[in-house]
Amino acid sequence: MSALTGRIAVVTGASRGIGAATAALLAGQGARVVRLARTLVERRDADAMDLPCDVTDAARVSAVAGLVRAEWGVPDMVVNNAGAFHLAPFEDTTLAEFDAQLDANLRGPWLMARAFVPMMREAGRGAVVTVGSVADHQAFPGNAAYASSKFGVRGLHETLVAEYRGSGLRFTLVSPGPTDTAAWDAVDPDSREGFTPRARMMRPEDVAAAVLFALSRPAHVQVDWLRLGPA
Ligand SMILES: NC(=O)c1ccc[n+]([C@@H]2O[C@H](COP(=O)([O-])OP(=O)(O)OC[C@H]3O[C@@H](n4cnc5c(N)ncnc54)[C@H](OP(=O)(O)O)[C@@H]3O)[C@@H](O)[C@H]2O)c1
Repeated sequence: MSALTGRIAVVTGASRGIGAATAALLAGQGARVVRLARTLVERRDADAMDLPCDVTDAARVSAVAGLVRAEWGVPDMVVNNAGAFHLAPFEDTTLAEFDAQLDANLRGPWLMARAFVPMMREAGRGAVVTVGSVADHQAFPGNAAYASSKFGVRGLHETLVAEYRGSGLRFTLVSPGPTDTAAWDAVDPDSREGFTPRARMMRPEDVAAAVLFALSRPAHVQVDWLRLGPA
């Protein structure tokens, strides 16, 4: 029996990559896991629920929060992992591409927090982990849209830490460096100078382990920020 046995977790972007690894790791610890992503097909059993959800869609996020609460109760853990990665020089980045990054990486976590934090506050307990990036605190060329969204989500995270301290709610930002997922397919880092080759990247399970570390601390411990990257 682990600290997470029977606890309810909601993980966004859980159809692949870091989110899928996190959902699997939490389920392996005995948590009841709700997986959200746009491409998931609705499915339910006693300990697992998959719900299609675009985290940028305010009405859908709100409906999903109501559904989870009605069917399973107030979640103990929310993992804001869903995200998109667009790499391009500043002058080649269109406004639509910028907006898409802000939508997936900042509006999504904001909407998830608006939907779930109030019910967790009422319950007097809960943990929210947001997956940021090394790009939430460090600048790289070609990263203007992505970094804007990730620096932004760090601002959201730090504000929530300050605002809810002492409430029983805990917030953690996990900021990974390069991790070998489909997010890199369009970039092809192995053929480009200055990028970490895929073989040297972290695995999705490495980031999932950091999320689990934060979520499995005792209730009196607040882990503000975990930064990790390839050795
Ligand atoms: N890979 C890295 O090197 C790296 C490094 C630092 C931080 N991160 C962060 O880690 C997180 C996960 O990335 P990943 O590398 O695992 O990427 P990935 O393999 O491309 O997975 C992204 C996940 O997000 C979901 N998603 C995207 N937009 C969504 C939306 N609007 N609504 C709901 N779900 C959405 C995708 O599912 P659907 O397509 O089914 O919706 C998918 O499950 C992201 O926040 C990313 O910024 C990644």
